[in-house]
Amino acid sequence: MSARYEVRDGIAVITLDNPPVNGLGHATRSDVAAGVARAEADAAVKAVVLTGAGKAFSGGADIREFGSPKAAAEPNLGTLIKVVDGCSKPVVAAIHSVCMGGGLELALGCHYRVAVAGASIALPEVKLGLLPGAGGTQRLPRVLGVETALNMIVSGEPVKSELLAMQPGQRLFDQLIEGDLMTGALAFAADVGARHAGGAPLPRVRSLPATDPNPDGYFQFARNTVKAMAKNFPAPARCVDAVEASVKRSFEDGMAYERELFMALMFTPESKALRHAFFGERAASKIPDVPEDTPVRKIAKVAVIGAGTMGGGISMNFLNAGIPVVILETRQDALDRGLATIARNYESQVKKGKLKSDVYQQRMSLLTPTLSYDDIKDADLVIEAVFEEMGVKETVFKKLDQAAKPGAILATNTSTLNVDTIASFTRRPADVVGLHFFSPANVMKLLEVVRGKATAKDVLATVMAMAKVIKKTAVVSGVCDGFIGNRMVEQYIRQSGFLLDEGCTPSQVDRAIEKFGFAMGPFRMSDLAGNDIGWAIRKRRAVEFPNIRYSKTADLLCEKGRFGQKTGAGWYDYKAGQRDAIASAEVEQMIVDYRKTIGRAPRKVGEEEIVQRLVYSLVNEAARILEEGIANKASDIDMVYLTGYGFPLFRGGPLCYADSQGLFNVVRAMQHFGLNPHDDAGFWQPAPLLARLVAEGKSFT
Ligand code: 3HC
Ligand code: NAI
Repeated sequence: MSARYEVRDGIAVITLDNPPVNGLGHATRSDVAAGVARAEADAAVKAVVLTGAGKAFSGGADIREFGSPKAAAEPNLGTLIKVVDGCSKPVVAAIHSVCMGGGLELALGCHYRVAVAGASIALPEVKLGLLPGAGGTQRLPRVLGVETALNMIVSGEPVKSELLAMQPGQRLFDQLIEGDLMTGALAFAADVGARHAGGAPLPRVRSLPATDPNPDGYFQFARNTVKAMAKNFPAPARCVDAVEASVKRSFEDGMAYERELFMALMFTPESKALRHAFFGERAASKIPDVPEDTPVRKIAKVAVIGAGTMGGGISMNFLNAGIPVVILETRQDALDRGLATIARNYESQVKKGKLKSDVYQQRMSLLTPTLSYDDIKDADLVIEAVFEEMGVKETVFKKLDQAAKPGAILATNTSTLNVDTIASFTRRPADVVGLHFFSPANVMKLLEVVRGKATAKDVLATVMAMAKVIKKTAVVSGVCDGFIGNRMVEQYIRQSGFLLDEGCTPSQVDRAIEKFGFAMGPFRMSDLAGNDIGWAIRKRRAVEFPNIRYSKTADLLCEKGRFGQKTGAGWYDYKAGQRDAIASAEVEQMIVDYRKTIGRAPRKVGEEEIVQRLVYSLVNEAARILEEGIANKASDIDMVYLTGYGFPLFRGGPLCYADSQGLFNVVRAMQHFGLNPHDDAGFWQPAPLLARLVAEGKSFT
């Protein structure tokens, strides 16, 4: 059963029971409709209470059904709400924990609503690229007023039940229950049951008016605001249209209009991308051979080795979550510098009003600086963030092996070194894992969890759970050069270099890919990260893999000392203290001169070609990564790019985007680029997995 039915003292109680969040799937909808019919038919029943089992009243429509015939199968959500609304006996929604989306729409179809304080109330459909499609845009304005309702619908953000209940004139909640919800709801239901026993009409939200004193002015203002905020997403503007209909049209016409807009949004690429990201985020935390019930180790105290750029940011994540951190350096001056940077970061948040000063003090009081390994011996998790040299890592991991307590997890933040080699410096390689944070580590959502060949399953389960505590999106990667993200970005950067050799300027390339939706083009990104990092990697790789071809322009840039923003000059020029990238005549001349030395006549490269070459270079490498088992699933790769590399969310990540273009077309474009004699021979050879998917007519996701 997906919803239970019982009768308690003349009150029928229908309990949604569809874990994890009582999504309103077909079976649940059918059970609830059957429960309402049974209650109507039973003369002993005076009223109905509708509630949810477990951790939610309801999280809304079952989004796993979207796109399948089950989503529309009768009773669909609209029909179910009509059934509830049309019930001749009072139906009371008893709301707790989470009441969202279709769950809130169902509650709005009930005649009465009671709730406990602390419940999260939302219409979050906009976050899936949709709008509420079962009356939310028509009913919420009738109970909360147009402005509050529109804010909730356009933002999708949850609001606590007690705040809404306090709003003057609100009709959302009839009572805020103190103490046990079911006891309060049964008493309320008995009361209204008696009140309506003689046939007094039931209150219905659809009968209330939705009004605004100046609808034209208000909705125009709302439309302008939304347009500026959500330029790549169609749903927010449609939310405004639908709510406007609640004021300007009859309830029935408004409902029909909402339905029309909902169905149209369901098929937009933006909604598909957002739903892919929603499930991708949740799927990333699941590792195929690590069962969900794997016991996790306790993480109550963390040690960070190295108080540089990464060590400081990594520490802040744990301090923010209330977990004490010991931070270790080799020298007092480095330690002082690291602490000062952490304090400065927090102070700037205090100044901007984003952090209360007492919270800042609390966080700093959880931080213990040290020069001694003695102080890390009770840490449950140690994260190393020292210089990127195997010799230094060896020294540190040998010391950690001596100092850390048995069962402590030993993590490295290395971005390029072999985690298995690092693990081999200890006598406990099963406790070693890579935790690859991205810079700035206190801000960036992505955490690549690098699984060594010996990493224990409970270590993986523990760090995945820990990632949720510090609000990161963790994605598991196998060991390889660059892991998932940087291994792919190397091909993207190589391709952007070839584009310069062929006739582009850095700003032309950046502009094209930023128009596509990337937060930053490859050249602006390199200037931010530091061009010297790539230079060092290329030098190392030139020894290991002498046949890999790069455009030489990046090396010439570094030979001029143009390392990026930190030296005030990189691919672009920068004014002192400013981050605005200004096209550099010197760099453009350098590129022109270089083309002459290789005898290349420049050609005009169109924006479409630039975008395809950059994005498909990511896609081809991703296919190799997937085939080698470095990534567990396609959506993991998309999550890496959405949360760590500024890939446009509305396109769902490189593989979701490739699927949307059709893999046949992707491969066809690659074959076309492969004919270019100036590109690297072999670069555009489609990865075997990609070729196979095309042959079988399949997609990545
Ligand atoms: N349908 C089906 N499954 C859902 C779901 C839903 N509406 N919402 C969440 N889930 C699943 C998740 O996929 C996850 O499954 P997993 O354990 O197998 O990975 C599980 O519930 C737990 O989710 P979270 O990890 O997100 O758990 P939290 O406790 O952190 O959050 C939540 C719970 C607040 C409900 C959050 O999951 C959420 O925001 N869900 C989305 C709610 C939503 O968008 N609802 C609107 C749906 S569209 C709709 O109703 C259309 C209608 O207007 C016609
Ligand atoms: P950094 O140079 O800013 O900081 C390194 C710190 O380690 C310095 O403060 C140094 O004094 C300290 N240190 C050196 N040897 C030590 C030792 N034996 N014991 C204790 N402390 C020691 O370097 P950064 O950028 O913080 O990088 C650290 C690690 O993080 C590297 O492995 C790097 O590859 C990785 N990383 C860096 C990213 C970045 O964008 N900077 C991104 C992701 C990973």
